[in-house]
Amino acid sequence: MRKNIVAGNWKMNNDLAETEMFLVDLKKQVFPEDVAVMVAPPFTSLHHTFNSLREHPVTIAAQNMHQSNEGAFTGEVSAKMLKSVGVSTVILGHSERRAFFNEDGSLLAEKVNTALENKMTLIFCIGEELADRKAENHFSLINRQLSEGLFHISEAAWENVIIAYEPVWAIGTGETASPEQAQEMHQYIRKLINENYNETIAKKVSILYGGSVKPDNAAEIFGQADVDGGLIGGASLKVASFMKIVNAF
Ligand code: PGA
Repeated sequence: MRKNIVAGNWKMNNDLAETEMFLVDLKKQVFPEDVAVMVAPPFTSLHHTFNSLREHPVTIAAQNMHQSNEGAFTGEVSAKMLKSVGVSTVILGHSERRAFFNEDGSLLAEKVNTALENKMTLIFCIGEELADRKAENHFSLINRQLSEGLFHISEAAWENVIIAYEPVWAIGTGETASPEQAQEMHQYIRKLINENYNETIAKKVSILYGGSVKPDNAAEIFGQADVDGGLIGGASLKVASFMKIVNAF
């Protein structure tokens, strides 16, 4: 069956000293066996985090990567570079990348291909803005984001794909989708995968919810039939709140 996953997306937080403080505390924790725990530090902390957590059941993810394998792309980081520091998982298409760095469907399709060619696991993020939901366009928008960025991959590639549904209006706002809204959309995403691929893949892919998940609402959200965990921003920055969420299944 599919995996329960809790992934902490640190965004542009935690320098090396702050990362080390977090890791010292994290390494004292006992991790439940049925939850895959992931942390996504900024690039500058990836190598240290990987080395520090070698003996611990925590996957290290990058928050982004470039679509090319190498070349004259000042300021960018490639899949090969990530792998060279022990990182084989990458978050792609986070709404902040889409909104502030103009990442669109065709660019994300390229990034997805590059990640898969480099044998990486990817967490593909999708989510509607408040205006889309108010206009009742949220289902068609999600369908479009998946069609443009992800639905070209092979059946076999789904082994290495995790989806994160993050309604933009719930990210960092303190406003979460209700458990019913999350379930409704996750069920719809699985239906789309079934239509575009097959039922086996639709049942097997982990779909995470993201957007103001906190220790006090995680259990209810994770308790929904089609929600397999969360992509956590703010509440992942402190080990205590992160672990409460890890233990919320
Ligand atoms: P948040 O962020 O938990 O702070 O709302 C979630 C995310 O952007 O992944």
